[in-house]
Amino acid sequence: MIAKRMQPVLVSARALRGGELHNWLRTISTQPFASEPKSPVIATEIPGPVSQELYRQMNSIQQASSVQLFADYEKSIGNYLADVDGNLMLDIYMQISSMPLGYNHPAMLQVLTDPRNQKIIANRPALGVFPNRDWPEKLKNVLLKKGIAPPGFSHITTMMCGSCSNENSFKNIFIWYAEKQRHGKSFTKEEMDSCMINQVPGSPKYSIMSFEGAFHGRTLGSLSTTHSKYIHKIDVPAFDWPIAPFPRYKYPLESNESENKQEDDFCLAKVEYLFDKYKREKHFPVAGVIVEPIQAEGGDNHGSPYFFQKLQQITKKYGGALLIDEVQTGGGPTGKMWCHEHFNLESPPHIVTFSKKMQLGGYYHLEEMKPNQPYRVFNTWMGDPSKLILLEAIIDVILKENLLDRVTRVGNYVLQELKKLENEFSNTINSSRGRGTFIAFNCATSKLRDETIKKLLRKGIQAGGCGNTAIRLRPSLTFTEHHANIFLENLQTILKE
Ligand SMILES: Cc1ncc(COP(=O)(O)O)c(C=O)c1O
Repeated sequence: MIAKRMQPVLVSARALRGGELHNWLRTISTQPFASEPKSPVIATEIPGPVSQELYRQMNSIQQASSVQLFADYEKSIGNYLADVDGNLMLDIYMQISSMPLGYNHPAMLQVLTDPRNQKIIANRPALGVFPNRDWPEKLKNVLLKKGIAPPGFSHITTMMCGSCSNENSFKNIFIWYAEKQRHGKSFTKEEMDSCMINQVPGSPKYSIMSFEGAFHGRTLGSLSTTHSKYIHKIDVPAFDWPIAPFPRYKYPLESNESENKQEDDFCLAKVEYLFDKYKREKHFPVAGVIVEPIQAEGGDNHGSPYFFQKLQQITKKYGGALLIDEVQTGGGPTGKMWCHEHFNLESPPHIVTFSKKMQLGGYYHLEEMKPNQPYRVFNTWMGDPSKLILLEAIIDVILKENLLDRVTRVGNYVLQELKKLENEFSNTINSSRGRGTFIAFNCATSKLRDETIKKLLRKGIQAGGCGNTAIRLRPSLTFTEHHANIFLENLQTILKE
């Protein structure tokens, strides 16, 4: 059972009143944290007074309502996020799942002191035109390194962020699909002229299939495949592309196998129906399917290996490309470098997109996806070599410290303890699920979920929500049982309350 040890330290907030605020702030800002504390340190309510003042300043110049607090990244350390009010929170959300080693990891800071690396940071190249002499070697030794690249991939295109990795992958899929129809012939004059005025045949009517509840980003093409929250989409024109249902399983999985298999088969039948309908009736053939291995923003909805194996087979049967979006799941949080490695697919998917924990965006792709002409998938920066330096240091730590094994071990522990809490508080939480430390559980209502996240924050734990009722864990790969216990104990206390 979870031991009762780790309650947050509450520092008096009296010093914050009146003119003493300034002096107090000066004091705390001269005390850097040399190492992780044993438990969270709570100095004020969160957001505290300094955060609130900074929020007022920022909101006067932009829409800033999404800001939760102002951080102090100089003082943040390991699994702890410091804020400007002197609070030090255990961070199990990690900048929306994008900090693989936590804050201020010495290996990452170290590479930034190397003068050669400083020149790379100072001189950001237009990678598609003037890459540095070491760029091919860097791509091979870092992103394409054995054990880091998803199995079966030897080709990569780097990009900026998650959305633009998906966006450019769609273009890549359309180009590949059109080339197949063209059977090696060159562009016709009609194609070249019609694309300039957004008309067929130069701008063909092809589509990308996506899934209900999916999140693939916020740029225009990606947004047409995002279906998690209306606020992301409303007022923005979208493509009329097919949207299939994604499995919604009953938990625990062991007791609901046949029902969940039926759910898989129902969704797969709909995928097949949409492939057919968009080709025959709508004359808008599906060139590719985009899918998250675990629907993250949409509520941590899992698909079984069976679902993904069949999805790949159907996609192949209809001549489409399978794009697995590993922007949130990639980089180790599921205990493998890539979540789709858990699925035993019969062959690699056509494309795997990444960003977040990988520091820069991009996509792995099969050789057949490589366009025949330059400038078809292109932008000024096409990635960022300075981020690859950091990624190189991160990968070194992941491999030397066997962090993926740790993620699996700690994740199993968290899931086992969450299931015990589920039994103890069965009216309040349910459906604990996850791979590695990529874990979520549902609360009985959205209100209860939001309140639980707020209460966790008051106890010094920064957690995140997803979907309507889920709380998700997205800790760094350096998260241990000790950190897990702090979270679990505090969750237990809140559920008792
Ligand atoms: C699965 C997935 N795809 C794409 C994106 C978009 O990435 P970005 O926010 O870097 O554009 C996200 C962001 O959360 C994501 O979770």
